[in-house]
Amino acid sequence: MLAAKRTATFTESVIREMTRIANQHEAINLAQGFPDFPMPEPLKEAACAAINGDINQYAVTWGSAALRIAIAEKYRRWYGMDVDKDAEVTVTCGATEAMASVFMALIDPGDEVIILEPFYENYGPDAILAGASPVFVPLEWPNWTLDADRLKKAFSKKTKAIVINTPHNPTGRVLSRAEMTLIAELCQKNDAWAITDEPYEHIRFAGDHHVMATFPGMRERTITISSLSKTFSCTGWRLGYAVAPAKQTAAIRKVHDFLTVGAPAPLQAAGAIGFAFDADYFNHLAQDYKARLNMLAPVLREAGFQFVNPEGAYYLFADFSKISKKGDVEFAKWMIEEIGVATVPGSSFYHHKSHGKRFVRFAFCKKFETMKRAADRLAKLPKHL
Ligand SMILES: Cc1ncc(COP(=O)(O)O)c(C=O)c1O
Repeated sequence: MLAAKRTATFTESVIREMTRIANQHEAINLAQGFPDFPMPEPLKEAACAAINGDINQYAVTWGSAALRIAIAEKYRRWYGMDVDKDAEVTVTCGATEAMASVFMALIDPGDEVIILEPFYENYGPDAILAGASPVFVPLEWPNWTLDADRLKKAFSKKTKAIVINTPHNPTGRVLSRAEMTLIAELCQKNDAWAITDEPYEHIRFAGDHHVMATFPGMRERTITISSLSKTFSCTGWRLGYAVAPAKQTAAIRKVHDFLTVGAPAPLQAAGAIGFAFDADYFNHLAQDYKARLNMLAPVLREAGFQFVNPEGAYYLFADFSKISKKGDVEFAKWMIEEIGVATVPGSSFYHHKSHGKRFVRFAFCKKFETMKRAADRLAKLPKHL
């Protein structure tokens, strides 16, 4: 018996393949986008306390009251946005599950969903699982800006939603107010949803984080997805959430219930306290990532990579065409074997694979000592050419 047709285009993650080869060669893994340093101690202690305090049964399906209160308070405090914790918040198993649940709750088979390319690799499969057709609009090299005309042309009668990821994986772009305004206008004109994916909202080195739901006329047509994974360096906890108008939240909660019943109860109890951390925590998060970026960027420039510095998130998406004429997968394998540093081939982030052939993505969410070792190895790259 064959697997269902909808799975035919899903491929094993290239990132995992790179990790496997990196392990064989004892390369430093700058491919995988998760921290190799510990998450904040108070959250770990709170999780242990929750488990020892017997918070080990199913949580409320749409999220524990404590975590939903913390999330609603976060939106009030950071973005001046009123969120009803009872009717507008769904806690999910990561932003990943939030995105899949939102797609299944709001998108019908035959609908079109606009995705900005390059993109985080889950959006394509999410669209396919919902029976929708993804329509790709490029962010333009070298500054990864949005071309207004191309975006306008991508909207059609079938457009149901646009996915907006800012700060952006893999380019590090933080979308400007002007770009967000343009998207907001097009969503209103074409009666489309804005689905925002913003797990890196607190990791920014330039530019403000613009929350689409706070733009005029957008509260009722925006689904805001975020996560604890990157903010609290706990990608394994699998905690994310979707904030949406009450009617759509009801639909999202139904899908979420059938998919997972709920997110891990003791971790929700612990996660709630993270949002109460003072501004110092969030400032340091961004500053520490900036320091890691500063260890990596000059060495890569010196070696001949071309890129604009990321404005946020913890990735650097670099054009290697001045260094090598190899394809991206071949170049990434060569980097593992010869330089001892693993990256992700650029084509993983493109539907049109050839558009990503001259890029690789470096993740700089690693310990300072790991970044230093990687920088030392990369500094030797010119000698290998
Ligand atoms: C843009 C983007 N969205 C979502 C996710 C997944 O987040 P989570 O761990 O909350 O599922 C990632 C993880 O790398 C990401 O880069």
